[in-house]
Amino acid sequence: MNLVFDFSKMAVAEQCPMDESRRLDPYEQDKEAHESFMKSRSSSLLGRKDILEEIDRGSRGKCGALIVLGGPGIGKSSLLARAADVACLRAAKAMPSGQGPNLNVFYHFVGAIPGSTNPEKMIKRLLRELNVCNDLNMPKDYESACQIASSALSNPNTRPTIIVIDALDQLDEDGTASASRWLPSKLRWLPPQLAPQVCCVLSMINETPPHHTLRERKIKRVEQPVPPLEMESRREIVSEILGQFDKRLDEEQMVSLLSKEASQNPLWLSIACEELRVYGVFSKVTDKINTLADGLLELLAQVLERLEAEGGGSLMVATLCLLECSSSGLLEAELLAILGDEDNLMPSDNGKNNKKKGASKKRKKSNKPQPLTAVKWARVYRTLQPFLQPFGESGEGRLDFSPPSLSKAIRKKYFNTRLAGVGEGEEAMNETLVRWWNTKLTDYFENVSNLERKVEEYPYQLRKLGDKERLIEFLCDWDMIEGLYNEDYSSQLLSYWRRVIQKKIQIKFHSIVTKYREDHSQCYYIAKTMLPREWKMCIHCVQVSLSPMTGVIIYL
Ligand SMILES: Nc1ncnc2c1ncn2[C@@H]1O[C@H](COP(=O)(O)OP(=O)(O)OP(=O)(O)O)[C@@H](O)[C@H]1O
Ligand SMILES: [Mg+2]
Repeated sequence: MNLVFDFSKMAVAEQCPMDESRRLDPYEQDKEAHESFMKSRSSSLLGRKDILEEIDRGSRGKCGALIVLGGPGIGKSSLLARAADVACLRAAKAMPSGQGPNLNVFYHFVGAIPGSTNPEKMIKRLLRELNVCNDLNMPKDYESACQIASSALSNPNTRPTIIVIDALDQLDEDGTASASRWLPSKLRWLPPQLAPQVCCVLSMINETPPHHTLRERKIKRVEQPVPPLEMESRREIVSEILGQFDKRLDEEQMVSLLSKEASQNPLWLSIACEELRVYGVFSKVTDKINTLADGLLELLAQVLERLEAEGGGSLMVATLCLLECSSSGLLEAELLAILGDEDNLMPSDNGKNNKKKGASKKRKKSNKPQPLTAVKWARVYRTLQPFLQPFGESGEGRLDFSPPSLSKAIRKKYFNTRLAGVGEGEEAMNETLVRWWNTKLTDYFENVSNLERKVEEYPYQLRKLGDKERLIEFLCDWDMIEGLYNEDYSSQLLSYWRRVIQKKIQIKFHSIVTKYREDHSQCYYIAKTMLPREWKMCIHCVQVSLSPMTGVIIYL
């Protein structure tokens, strides 16, 4: 198998050699991935004439921020994708003649590509695309980036700009800055008063934290609720989706499907079509339509049952739970390696028996099982594929779910089991069960050699487990520090430090001070005479209000 793969790879490389000059930097890669998401969502949008006109009018006017509000799956991302597409066309028209003002368009679809939920990355990408900062003068920390963005967006001299950000409610809240620093001043990059030539089109689910923040901060805004999908568009969506597979519903079936209240939600409709498409018994399609649950989460629960039945039972459940507990999806090879431990695939006893192999505190490397076979994986993958996120080039091979609502359905079905002591009918997340999956991921990532993936996933899992011992061990490893130490990750490193290091450092700090019989300033002097990388760490320690000696101590 590997031989065939290597040979094919070599043959492709020979036929179409990589053009090194076209290699994109991380910002450009992200931009390209957002663009491909924007184009695909924009082109599949049907109907919605009225609200598109409203958004277009709003993005031309001096309304401040235009807030597009609607429940899960109602079509917010599709609308914002079209709005961004239209704005890009307008910008392209304005440019060649040199007449009319140049128009900057920035768009960002939170959750659509790996890393897009990180607010710091988003703001830095914004600063770069608006030409406010470049690689040389990009601020290191999130705070300064927010301040610069806020002043650029309120500055009357900034070039005319349209900013489209989808799913603001899905941005990480504690991914970069510590929760306490982020919470009171969320959306700091957004000034209360945008410059008249700057317009922001933002989408989110109603009554979510960013919606409340916008209200509390009294940011000048117009709220635009997304209405239910028109009947004509619903018909078109059904015909379009089923038509791609040479299938169609007769009039009676169509009416029956569209008479369900949930069919006004395009996500419900597309999932319902997918369920009908894969349903094998043609003569019973009408009955199948009648049994489709009339609610998004309820329909997704039915979908999960089907996935389980068709996709290999516990192998499918494990895949779903692992993806759900990962920080932002998993590579196929990672999933295969974890799923290969088939004897220990599922938690017994609701995950309470954590001592079992696979959920142990540290797994022995020698017991490493073989990866799951391609045949078994093919069945899981084929069944799950319609619900996997088509990540762009930057996230090549990365698997994650597509509608965010599927996450919610997975948590409800697999993690919400009733705990002892919780009353009948009440639902509480079974933390023990979640920890079982986190431990599985931790044990796997502890030993992976792919540094980039390790720094992304391992500390995240340790944080979820609250395993400070191993997190400290990780943070004191120079390979890991180097892996996290760059423009995009450095603030994440600092946030991990803030979480775990203080206490241990206090103790070590005292012993160091005694050893050298120095005071703080002399310690600082010692730090200053160190090698560049240790010095860099000291500077970072100062930034997070730790003693500069922290860097020295870590090194020691
Ligand atoms: N007007 C439309 N025409 C055709 N398909 C649509 C339309 N609106 C939404 N869809 C499809 O419905 C699904 C859900 O839409 P979308 O992702 O835009 O909703 P959303 O409100 O952003 O959902 P979420 O809350 O999950 O982010 C997608 O598959 C999308 O392609
Ligand atoms: Mg969306």
